[in-house]
Amino acid sequence: MKLNVLLIFALLSSNFVLIIATNHFEQAYSNNAQMKTLYSLFQTTIAPLYGDQEEALKKISDAKDRLAYLLVNEEKVLGVLVYKNTVTQEFALLGVDDAIELKTLFVVDAKTNSGIRLGTQLFNKCLEYAKSVKAGYIVVTVSEEKPESIKFFERKGFKKIDAMPNKYKVGVTEYIFAKSLKIND
Ligand SMILES: CC(C)(COP(=O)(O)OP(=O)(O)OC[C@H]1O[C@@H](n2cnc3c(N)ncnc32)[C@H](O)[C@@H]1OP(=O)(O)O)[C@@H](O)C(=O)NCCC(=O)NCCS
Repeated sequence: MKLNVLLIFALLSSNFVLIIATNHFEQAYSNNAQMKTLYSLFQTTIAPLYGDQEEALKKISDAKDRLAYLLVNEEKVLGVLVYKNTVTQEFALLGVDDAIELKTLFVVDAKTNSGIRLGTQLFNKCLEYAKSVKAGYIVVTVSEEKPESIKFFERKGFKKIDAMPNKYKVGVTEYIFAKSLKIND
């Protein structure tokens, strides 16, 4: 490889590492500034898929059964993560016990910001939490309208365990995916 090509590559990858390294998580709850940002991101990204978000946002704000985080770099919000903070048996009939439910994971301005491991950073935070409470699985529900999210979760080791046609929208199927955290699986 020529020296200038090597130099460009080194510069690009060091910027990339720098961006990832300086990202951090800020919790959204109650009436804090992060909650206000989350509110508007939910209206633009989640509401078109799942309809009115008032109830979900109230639950996030109360922070009783779920934790919500923004992935932030300086003032820029890069991603959103919401997961439930109690282990559930809700999916036991599908063979998935002791699960942590990942409720929301997306990269902000996904068209421009995808592909630089922000999704992975978001996912790793949930994974860390699930392991810390010794969950057997992480479960996530994904709309067929989001094939990029389906591919992402498949790359993270999730398997499809159920399909729910017309769950939130007529003619649209919602899939349930689970990833085992059990050592022997
Ligand atoms: C899907 C999404 C989370 C992926 O985030 P990302 O930052 O691009 O993902 P990463 O760069 O961390 O990639 C992780 C892995 O997933 C794979 N992957 C991610 N997006 C993919 C896609 N569209 N197709 C195929 N593979 C994909 C990557 O290749 C990578 O694989 P590897 O670990 O083997 O290299 C992001 O694109 C997104 O949020 N899109 C919008 C989804 C949305 O609007 N959801 C709303 C409802 S929550």
